[in-house]
Amino acid sequence: MLSLGIESTAHTFGIGIVDDKGNVLANERYVYQPPLGYGIIPIDAANKLRENAESVLEKALDKAKIRINEIDVISFSRGPGLPPCLRVGKDFVNKILERLEKDVKIYGVNHCVAHVEIGILKTDLKDPVTLYVSGGNTQILAFVEKRYRCFGETLDIAIGNMLDSFAREANLQHPGGPKIEELAKKGSYIELPYVVKGMDFSFTGILTAAIRKLKEGIRLEDLCYSIQETCFAMLTEATERAVAHTGKEEVLLTGGVAANKRLQEMLRIMCEERGASFAVVPGEYAGDNGAMIAWLGILMSKSGYKTLKLEEIDILPKWRTEDFEVMWK
Ligand code: ATP
Ligand code: FE2
Repeated sequence: MLSLGIESTAHTFGIGIVDDKGNVLANERYVYQPPLGYGIIPIDAANKLRENAESVLEKALDKAKIRINEIDVISFSRGPGLPPCLRVGKDFVNKILERLEKDVKIYGVNHCVAHVEIGILKTDLKDPVTLYVSGGNTQILAFVEKRYRCFGETLDIAIGNMLDSFAREANLQHPGGPKIEELAKKGSYIELPYVVKGMDFSFTGILTAAIRKLKEGIRLEDLCYSIQETCFAMLTEATERAVAHTGKEEVLLTGGVAANKRLQEMLRIMCEERGASFAVVPGEYAGDNGAMIAWLGILMSKSGYKTLKLEEIDILPKWRTEDFEVMWK
């Protein structure tokens, strides 16, 4: 069985092709770059994703060395995400269906659950607490009673968005996360607000304070260092409490921000102290990608989800992770 997955929740249009054993035959993508000085502009992003969709598909089929008619399952990101971008993915499924000479199963996939499941596939972990940190999401997820439940999340902006916004103010090139990580190596600590509320966290206060200090002339390296130390300690603290609460013995780190070595280090130390296993999802599968959507298509088709017509699968821009019932576990 071959599954083709389409990712288009924000700035990435990805197509992955995966078989039923979890071998990834292709994982191609186009990534939209916002104009200099801007964050992602949803309509602009959607137009660019649409323009590049066909060539991503061609590359994926070439890479996998298959023809489109060999596909048995097509899945796409149903949400959460930016509505215009989500529509690009669904419309593209329709374009593929028009040229297929056979019936295929179609699934609408929860983007956040896909991040966790590809992480489990690509690491040695089986039932982790997952910290999913990206430009649009910051969540602590764990599987409890048939669903991936959110044990902590940002109350305002995502950690990646916070890093990118600060970087923009400091005239650093987008994406800001890697630049901040570099500069932080030469910085020392200055105090910033530390905002954890219960299991949730907030980043806007830290962003405002850091921008104010930047304008007051505090060294950029010190601000980068302190932003990382503060935000990553908050995330590590809440993740540790989720581990304690659920009794799980594994921690998985995923999303674009998972590339950050300092965040990895803090989580690794926390896990070592608790005797828990820790793993980071490999880069190709940590950011948004089509392979994770294709893999969820395999899991769904193996576990008896109802197959629907494309018209019956609405996009769900605000889809909550726990609103999706997991039937394969
Ligand atoms: P999603 O749709 O899941 O929210 P996304 O659209 O933000 O994902 P990703 O590729 O998962 O896309 O993540 C991009 C984010 O990762 C950006 O905010 C970027 O600054 C951040 N990032 C990338 N590398 C690093 C790094 N080394 N340190 C910190 N942040 C990083
Ligand atoms: Fe994502």
